[in-house]
Amino acid sequence: MDSLSPEFLLSIIEELPEMIVRLDSEGGVNFVNRAYCEAFGVRSDEVLGKPFSIPVHSEDTPVVKDGMARFQKDREGVRFWNRTHTANGLRWHTWTFRHLDDGGAQGSGHDFTDLRAIQDEMAVSRTQIRALAQRLLLVHEEERRQLAREIHDGLGQSLTILTFAFSALIQSLDLPPGVARDVDEISGQIEQIIWDARSLSRKLRPRILDDLGLPDAIQSEVEGFRQRTLLPVAVHVSPADLETGAGQATALFRILQESLNNIERHARASLATVRLERHEGSIVLTVTDNGCGICKERIGSPSSFGLVGIRERAAAWGGSVSIESGPGQGTAVRVELPCTEAERPVAA
Ligand SMILES: Nc1ncnc2c1ncn2[C@@H]1O[C@H](COP(=O)(O)OP(=O)(O)OP(=O)(O)O)[C@@H](O)[C@H]1O
Ligand SMILES: [Mg+2]
Repeated sequence: MDSLSPEFLLSIIEELPEMIVRLDSEGGVNFVNRAYCEAFGVRSDEVLGKPFSIPVHSEDTPVVKDGMARFQKDREGVRFWNRTHTANGLRWHTWTFRHLDDGGAQGSGHDFTDLRAIQDEMAVSRTQIRALAQRLLLVHEEERRQLAREIHDGLGQSLTILTFAFSALIQSLDLPPGVARDVDEISGQIEQIIWDARSLSRKLRPRILDDLGLPDAIQSEVEGFRQRTLLPVAVHVSPADLETGAGQATALFRILQESLNNIERHARASLATVRLERHEGSIVLTVTDNGCGICKERIGSPSSFGLVGIRERAAAWGGSVSIESGPGQGTAVRVELPCTEAERPVAA
């Protein structure tokens, strides 16, 4: 057989896993290959000369009609996806139609049912994983809140009472000078433990966030950052008394903390800015620095857990995140959350 003879080409077309159909200029079928016949459980002589017609799933009829209407107008050809009743049950097909020089048309159909099933399963898994991650964030935050309160109100108060009791006891005793020095040292250590307990409580969950709200919590967090890093940070909150739901405030606060941590650890910046603004229907937090920037791969990497966490927290409240950065261009993390009275994240 000649390598490019019509018989040779036909044998290849017959072996293709794709369905091939050729139509004349009137829309009548003048060729179908074996894959087509097997898919629809027909012999070629049963369809040849007849108008092209396949048993499309009723819900997808508009898609196919629209595809064929576009085909009449579009010289480039068309592609559409639909479900079809076949000899193997309902299958997902993608059809590509293009015009032939003789006024006819050629369609090739590909069965992607198995791929579609995998995609559907992956979409379900992704939704479940996201819901689980958001639930864990919520539980984690609640645990931190309780622990912070217990340390502050329980341990902290007990230690304060102990300090008073201890100094009252000492004052009532006439201690020799050597012992008095030891007592001062012990008092100092108790003070230090109280300070450590308060600081631990603050780190777990700053009380100011619950008591005074997000703008004050941001100012306080940034002040701590300035003192620690000596980096000038400008803060703009507009309006100054901006209010949010408690859950959104927590999400934005944790995002701010992660962004400031990143600036401290990675940016080598000389300047940073924090903006919290109410827009029409949304609240926007932007944290920028003029540091070394992040490369594209790191921004999108699934192992950049800090950045993934920022996106997850925003997604939990139906929000979006954009990270604009490039080597040497500084970084801008912008988070937009829709204003909502909701007490729970969208998927938790
Ligand atoms: N503001 C920034 N300036 C420069 N590089 C940054 C900045 N923020 C993040 N990066 C880069 O992006 C990477 C990913 O950040 P991400 O916060 O996800 O992880 P991390 O800070 O390294 O670790 P962690 O999980 O503790 O947050 C960082 O390792 C760093 O290289
Ligand atoms: Mg980080």
